Amino acid sequence: MKKHIAVLAGDGIGPEITNGGIAVLEAVAKKFGHAFTFEPLLIGGCAIDATGGPLPRETVDRCLAADSVLLGAVGGPKWDRLSGEIRPEKGLLGIRKAMGLYSNVRPAKLWKALADASPLKTPLVENGIEIIVVRELTGGIYFGKRGSFEDGACGETAWDTEQYSVTEIERITKIACELARKRSKRIVSVDKANVLESSRLWRRTVHSYAEKHYPDVAVSDMLVDNCAMQIVKNPAQFDILLTSNMFGDILSDEAAQVTGSIGMLASSSLGDGTRGLYEPIHGSAPDIAGQNLANPIATILSCAMMLRDSFGLIEECGAVETAVARVLEEGYRTADIFSAGMKKVGCRKMAELIAERI
Ligand code: IPM
Ligand code: MG
Repeated sequence: MKKHIAVLAGDGIGPEITNGGIAVLEAVAKKFGHAFTFEPLLIGGCAIDATGGPLPRETVDRCLAADSVLLGAVGGPKWDRLSGEIRPEKGLLGIRKAMGLYSNVRPAKLWKALADASPLKTPLVENGIEIIVVRELTGGIYFGKRGSFEDGACGETAWDTEQYSVTEIERITKIACELARKRSKRIVSVDKANVLESSRLWRRTVHSYAEKHYPDVAVSDMLVDNCAMQIVKNPAQFDILLTSNMFGDILSDEAAQVTGSIGMLASSSLGDGTRGLYEPIHGSAPDIAGQNLANPIATILSCAMMLRDSFGLIEECGAVETAVARVLEEGYRTADIFSAGMKKVGCRKMAELIAERI
């Protein structure tokens, strides 16, 4: 199979971790007889430096022409003081929107070999954890109207709006229901319906859509504050969490840490077609950038998701996941998941070890 992959390395540790992902994809291509080509493109802070904006037109055009997109991370202190419109993060939001990627799937799983990396006590994690956050990605407060004004009495005042339509809620509910059918057939839909009008529409729409089209899937609701607490109190109760854009952003970081390290958590972003964007859920970690310290596993597992969800290469996806599990079982650890008695390795070595085991 021939596939062309756009690579948006971005900032901070982005180049190191995407190199790790490419090394593993190359090993997959070799082993299974595929031909993958990679095209580096600018996004985020490095794009601002080179072109004046975080998302050059060329990046959008080339991503839309590619079979799929691999992304590292964007942002860093160098660009923190820029205005909202030219911040690095605007590039990431822009490419998600331009590619129509409304569905973001983030599987937080406790790897057997990493059971003691979870900050939770053993009884809470001993039966394993696998929470899949299905996050709406192109709507809500991230994309709602915003502004600021000078209020005579109170000074500078800023506002953002959370807005959702039935269409947006239905299409992400469909994604969660399809996934639920392959798993436990249970979804917990997260909202703040006791306060927000948009959440009341969310709740009503999720139920009416699921009941009509997926009567075999059980949907229950949880308020976001309670959900944040339940993830640390009893994470094993969850299978699929269906969330709005912002709630999913927050809860996926929490779920990641509960399962050991945010350096392990992959994601896929898809729309109606098979062209997706795959990225680790963590950020650009400027404090460790360029030091060969980052954990490339979240990016490598994102590549595994690309193989499966964009290219339909199920066996190849499994090979990557098995290689990751083996390297962990053999005791190799990057700094973020290191514990006494394990073998500490850098970003490059970790990717190499995984590639060798494909
Ligand atoms: C994520 C990140 C992004 C988001 C930022 C960098 C814009 O936190 O992918 O979780 O909030 O979506
Ligand atoms: Mg986030």
